[in-house]
Amino acid sequence: MKTQKNNLRLLSILSRIVFIVMFCILFTSCVEEQQIEELVQEVDNGENTQEPQQIDETLVALPGLPDYTAGYDKWLKLNAEPIPPVPGGDPHNGTKNVYVNQERVTIAPDGEQTFPYPDGSIVVKEATRPNKDYIGLIAIMRKVAGSDPDHNDWEFIEYTRNDPDDDFTILARDRVCWGCHARVEDLDYVFTTLD
Ligand code: HEC
Repeated sequence: MKTQKNNLRLLSILSRIVFIVMFCILFTSCVEEQQIEELVQEVDNGENTQEPQQIDETLVALPGLPDYTAGYDKWLKLNAEPIPPVPGGDPHNGTKNVYVNQERVTIAPDGEQTFPYPDGSIVVKEATRPNKDYIGLIAIMRKVAGSDPDHNDWEFIEYTRNDPDDDFTILARDRVCWGCHARVEDLDYVFTTLD
């Protein structure tokens, strides 16, 4: 009689253990499943992926200008002070700034500027016309390997607009520009040097 009672108690303890073990297994697998579900949801919501890139308004080219000029005014500025209009006739009439898409250390490794500019260089000059308060002229020199070996592979192009709400349109290019710029062939055709 006593052993039977003992057996019963043992059985009841055993079944409890089995129940607890089962419960634990079920619970952990549930948690795992839940975690996976949450993860899947996070990925779906984009929480686990990289932040979508902010569209930087300043990196959009001015209307009518080629995309490669986007954000040019964040590039290295060659001139320390704005370049004033040249009295008695200015080829790029206005107050000017000249930017290049290179690092200072690249074009002036020891503090002194070296030439020529590397392939892929883009020099952008903006001009605010006299008595105006918006950029009316953009002159560009862009170095594309093999494009024009006679002029150090620079492509010259100039855009203008007469109203701040207008798109820029092409005024002139290459041939018109070579005469003057050849005067500074030893500076790789670029008048403005790094200040
Ligand atoms: C009558 C001479 C003359 C002509 C023609 C001319 N330029 Fe210039 N350009 C200059 C001078 C001088 C500078 C530097 C001083 C300044 O901007 O006032 C200059 C500056 C520039 C700059 C800034 C880099 C630099 O050389 O200092 C760019 C870019 C430029 N010109 C592009 C052009 C393009 C494109 C054309 C043709 C559509 C052109 N230029 C035609 C004389 C000329």
